[in-house]
Amino acid sequence: MSTEMLSLEGLTVARGGRNVVREVSLEIPAGEVTALLGPNGAGKSSMVLAIGGILKPVAGRVLLDENDLAGRRPERIRRAGVAIVPEGRRLLPELTVAENLRVATYTLSGSDAEAGRARALELFPELEKRLDNAARALSGGEQQMVVLAQAMVSRPRFVIIDELSLGLAPVVVNRLVPTIRSFAESGIGVLLIEQFATVALSLANRAYVMEGGRIRFSGMASELREKPELLHSAYLLRGRNGAAGSPASAGAQPHPV
Ligand SMILES: Nc1ncnc2c1ncn2[C@@H]1O[C@H](COP(=O)(O)OP(=O)(O)OP(=O)(O)O)[C@@H](O)[C@H]1O
Ligand SMILES: [Mg+2]
Repeated sequence: MSTEMLSLEGLTVARGGRNVVREVSLEIPAGEVTALLGPNGAGKSSMVLAIGGILKPVAGRVLLDENDLAGRRPERIRRAGVAIVPEGRRLLPELTVAENLRVATYTLSGSDAEAGRARALELFPELEKRLDNAARALSGGEQQMVVLAQAMVSRPRFVIIDELSLGLAPVVVNRLVPTIRSFAESGIGVLLIEQFATVALSLANRAYVMEGGRIRFSGMASELREKPELLHSAYLLRGRNGAAGSPASAGAQPHPV
């Protein structure tokens, strides 16, 4: 069994002069989905930005293949095989889908860029007929597919997805779930941050709960599935009313704020 993983060790990230991620240690094994749950302001997105090299951590390590990627430039981290999908990532609205995909492949060689584009369309065949449409004309779900495709074109070994379902209708979330599962089945290590705990826990092997910048729970996702009170007592219903439910149970408001 391979123990290949991306590991955070004691990661601390400051924003506005305050530590918003505090000594976080977690492991993202290859070939699995790992869920990260937590209420608004827990520090999840700040952690993602630090993994991606957009925020420079004040302490701690981001370990891959015994290399410490903490504080490296985003391109270096991407080249090491770590792709991030930051919260609220947007496409370039006036550019076509094909052009938005090209933006994501421009650092790749010609043949890798072509393979990346083919891979994107394999993952999301529905984008094929949209290639010449401006990104602004796409539905929210189609835009999220392009955003995910942009992360996947460089064939990352690890992908960190911040808020998969934000603003999306339940039917669209249900379309994306098997794709995330297929990422893991192809050997990629996925860290999934997701407001709907049931979606995240249905996909994940392991789960972490973050609150106040710290990890408050780590264990098997099945533990949290079987004992939702663990989640509730940790925080979820306090911080985000109703967000621990499924998109289906959230009815017409799958996007609580
Ligand atoms: N640009 C910023 N400058 C200063 N403080 C910030 C900034 N962005 C976020 N913060 C603060 O950092 C803390 C962590 O925020 P972060 O966005 O990482 O949390 P989160 O867990 O992703 O929350 P959400 O579930 O709402 O996305 C919060 O207290 C937030 O107010
Ligand atoms: Mg966030």
